Amino acid sequence: MSSSASAASAPAGANEPKLTLYGGSNGVGRRVTVRDLALAKQRGERWPMLTAYDALTAGVFDEAGIPVLLVGDSAADNHLGYTNTVPVTVDELIMLTAAVVRGTKRSLVVADLPFGSYQASAKQALETGTRFLKEAGAGAVKLEGGRRVVHQVEALVQAGIPVMAHLGLTPQSVNVLGGYRVQGRSDEEAERLLADAKSLEAAGAFAVVLELVPEELAARVTELLTIPTVGIGAGVQCDAQVLVWTDMAGMTPGKAPRFAKKYADMRTVLRDAAQAYASDVVNGAFPAAEHTFH
Ligand code: KIV
Repeated sequence: MSSSASAASAPAGANEPKLTLYGGSNGVGRRVTVRDLALAKQRGERWPMLTAYDALTAGVFDEAGIPVLLVGDSAADNHLGYTNTVPVTVDELIMLTAAVVRGTKRSLVVADLPFGSYQASAKQALETGTRFLKEAGAGAVKLEGGRRVVHQVEALVQAGIPVMAHLGLTPQSVNVLGGYRVQGRSDEEAERLLADAKSLEAAGAFAVVLELVPEELAARVTELLTIPTVGIGAGVQCDAQVLVWTDMAGMTPGKAPRFAKKYADMRTVLRDAAQAYASDVVNGAFPAAEHTFH
């Protein structure tokens, strides 16, 4: 059969590039954009997001087809050895974001604005956000908070900087929240979160992370908004899901949070590899003939 005959008999759209965020060509050879995410919501397509903190790991996730990578301020505890996200600096996250951008070709790279770098004013947010786009090549920024950061979101979006918002458990406010607990359980808290979400959408945010909120509330927010919701500990009704990559891959030491699913045991794999190497060195089994030059 000629190619034109097979094209004629193929179902409509069968020869078109597969326009999906995950596993699709998505317009061939370009980065995912915030518009792609908006279209995915219209199609009802769910998508995965992961954190990434370095070029090598980000490259693996890019190859795996993960459409959005977040250089989260969770790099503080999962990459840089701090005990929470509060101490990480703009300069530290800019360096990590630049590495993630260099290591990827297709993923949209979103950079977290760290604690203290945007709360003071819209001007401060704009100065910090601009640095992430100019110096690190980020495609968007993320910040935490509801109506209290609406001026910041407006200023960033008007200046051409796409903003992902973050509601529910906002780890930068851990000292005010008094720990990492589920947010929005009371009617009053739930109404506040819904109003925050609406205001952030109106201010121009392109997506909103919902962290540690009851599934029923996350479903209401997802229904209410035309922009995608990205859940973490917020149930399956969100438009997208995000996990911290070290939780997802089993690299995080100790007990992972209940909402995180461990898809591999990288910590054991790496430790076993390091021990096997050490033992070969001690026993004289490495380097062997094939690793040796004469
Ligand atoms: O910093 C981070 O990793 C995050 C995600 C948990 C959403 O904000």
